[in-house]
Amino acid sequence: MAILEVEHIQKSFGATRVLDDISFTLEKGKTLSLIGSSGSGKTTLLRCLNFLETPDQGVIRVTGEVLLDMAQPQKQTAALLRKKRLHFGLVFQSFNLFPQYTALENVTLAGSLLARERPDYREHKKDILAELEAQAMDLLTQMGLRDRAERYPHQLSGGQCQRVAIARALALHPDILCFDEPTSALDPELTGEVLRVIRELAERETTMMIVTHEMAFARDVADTVIFMDDGKICEQGDPREVFDHPKEERTRQFLARYRQER
Ligand SMILES: Nc1ncnc2c1ncn2[C@@H]1O[C@H](COP(=O)(O)OP(=O)(O)O)[C@@H](O)[C@H]1O
Ligand SMILES: [Mg+2]
Repeated sequence: MAILEVEHIQKSFGATRVLDDISFTLEKGKTLSLIGSSGSGKTTLLRCLNFLETPDQGVIRVTGEVLLDMAQPQKQTAALLRKKRLHFGLVFQSFNLFPQYTALENVTLAGSLLARERPDYREHKKDILAELEAQAMDLLTQMGLRDRAERYPHQLSGGQCQRVAIARALALHPDILCFDEPTSALDPELTGEVLRVIRELAERETTMMIVTHEMAFARDVADTVIFMDDGKICEQGDPREVFDHPKEERTRQFLARYRQER
């Protein structure tokens, strides 16, 4: 069954339609790449999925549960919204780590705030926090950062910061991990280490949506690719098919321009 079902998402800013009838599904354990020119609506789509924007129309379901249905809008309380957001993890281009916290604290922070809502929190606080910290250390180890846990963001390279941000997103056990151009803010020599950990996550069947301009990476790692153009899905399918034998003229133009720039 599809873990994520998106149907007929529509979003305008003023008179500008930014997302136009976006529908797709994502299977559990699979990786979806979103490609397309700047301004085609990729970030807005990720923001709608993470409830940072509200679409004007459409339906979002995760594991069959309706999280959003604009035909039958629910009253969104802050607590409800927070619960819905937990289905998705988000890794930004610019990391957005908290500068005043260590790598480890960045990874444990959200979990420790959520833990306060547990009924057994007061009684078992010490154990709960120790468990969160152990889990965060495991994630940092997975990201190759075991010996950087006590460092602050300014003491880490961009690639290391981004790997902390990935660990932080994973710490909340999202159903779907979303990346918005995770390597675009990095020096070229640092993109490899970030792409490597994302590739490892794909091999471990983490369900992911990745907005990227790394075409070779998208072709290689994704199970499906969506090419967005002017707010619409222009073409989607197996990355090898889409990259090597694009059906749509717009896709051909985009890929050709991309090859020229490289
Ligand atoms: N908050 C906003 N208000 C008005 N226009 C916006 C806003 N966010 C994005 N847009 C516009 O929506 C379009 C799509 O933007 P975006 O989703 O960021 O595209 P991409 O990530 O593919 O570059 C662009 O034309 C952008 O200027
Ligand atoms: Mg964007």
